[in-house]
Amino acid sequence: MIIPVKWSDEGVEMLDQRLLPTEEKWLTLKTYAEVADGITDMVVRGAPAIGVSAAYGIALGAKNFVGTNMTDFEDELEYICQTLGKTRPTAVNLFWAIARMKRTFQKAKEEGKSISEIKQVLIEDAKAIHEEDIESQRLIAKFGGELLDDNSTVLTHCNAGALATGGVWGTALGVVRGAVADGKKISVIADETRPYLQGARLTAWELLQDDIPVTLITDNMSGHVMKKGRVQAVVVGSDRIAANGDVANKIGTYMVAVLARQHGIPFYVAAPLSTVDLNCPTGEEIPIEERNIREITHIQQIQLAPEGIDVSNYAFDVTPNEFVTAIITEKGVARAPYTESLRKQFED
Ligand code: MRU
Repeated sequence: MIIPVKWSDEGVEMLDQRLLPTEEKWLTLKTYAEVADGITDMVVRGAPAIGVSAAYGIALGAKNFVGTNMTDFEDELEYICQTLGKTRPTAVNLFWAIARMKRTFQKAKEEGKSISEIKQVLIEDAKAIHEEDIESQRLIAKFGGELLDDNSTVLTHCNAGALATGGVWGTALGVVRGAVADGKKISVIADETRPYLQGARLTAWELLQDDIPVTLITDNMSGHVMKKGRVQAVVVGSDRIAANGDVANKIGTYMVAVLARQHGIPFYVAAPLSTVDLNCPTGEEIPIEERNIREITHIQQIQLAPEGIDVSNYAFDVTPNEFVTAIITEKGVARAPYTESLRKQFED
C-alpha cells in the first residue's frame, strides 16, 4: 500500500518521488519552508498529494510557532499560507487545502481557543484532509471501476496513482484498482509522459507493486496503439477541472483525448471534488505552470539540445469538455452538460 506523505512527531514525511523507481528514500521535512520546497521541487507531486502536503505544511508551521501573541500567530499563518500558495500554480487542490485550513483557523479563533489548542486543531484538520482524500479515492475507484469492461486495457497519461494522492488508490489508477478489486482482468498502457517521465518512473513502478500488468510506451505511440485496437478506455487524473468540465492535466493529455475521440474510445477523467474549481468558468482561466527548460534540454546531466535553444516547457494542457466522456468523482459519475452535473455533485 503506497502512502506518499505522512504526518509524524518529527515533521512531514515524504517519499522522495524524484528518486523513483531506482531508490525508495523517505525525507523528514521539519519546517513549512521545507514542505514548500518539497512541493516546488517535486519531492511530492500530483494534485491531491500537493493539497494534503500543503495542509500538513500549514499544521507544521503552526506547530513550530514559538510566540504567545495571537496576532503574531495569525500573521505567521498568513505568511505560511502565502509561501505554500506560491509553490505550484495549476493544481487547485493546493489552494483548496490552504483555504480550508484558513477557515479551520478562523473558526477555532472565534471559538476562543488558545494558540496551543489551535495548533492541535490544525494538525487534526490536516490529518482529516488526508483521510478524506483517501476515502474519496476509494469511492472514485468504486464508481470508476464499474465503467471498465472485463479483459480490457486502459491507457493512462502521467501518474494519477496512489503516489499522486493521499495514497492507497489514486484517481486514474484508482479506477483501474477498483475494477481489479471487482475481479476484472485489466491491463494498463502507460504513456512515459515526457519530459518529467511520471508514467515511466512512477505509474510503471506503482502498478508493478500491485502486480497489475503494465506496458510502457513513449507518448508518440498512443495513436498507434489505439489504431491497433489495443486500448478500450483512456483514464486520466486532473489538476483542475473548470465549472464547464474543461480539464487541466499533464501536458499531452489533450492530444490523447483527441486521439481517443478519433478512435471511438471513451476518455474518462477521475478526480476528487477538491480538484473541481467552480470559480473557474472555463479552462481558459486555468493558470498553466511553465517549468525549467532544463527538463527538456537535458536528461539528468546529459545535454540533448543545442545550447541557447528557445524552449517552451508547459507542464499542463487543457482538454475541452467536449472530449470528456465522463468525470468520475467521489460523488459518482458526472456527464455532459458538466456545468449542471458538476454543480449538482457539490450540492448532493
Ligand atoms: O506535474 P505533476 O506530476 O504534479 O502532474 C501530475 C498530474 O498531471 C496528474 O495527472 C494530476 O495531478 C492528477 S493526480 C491524481
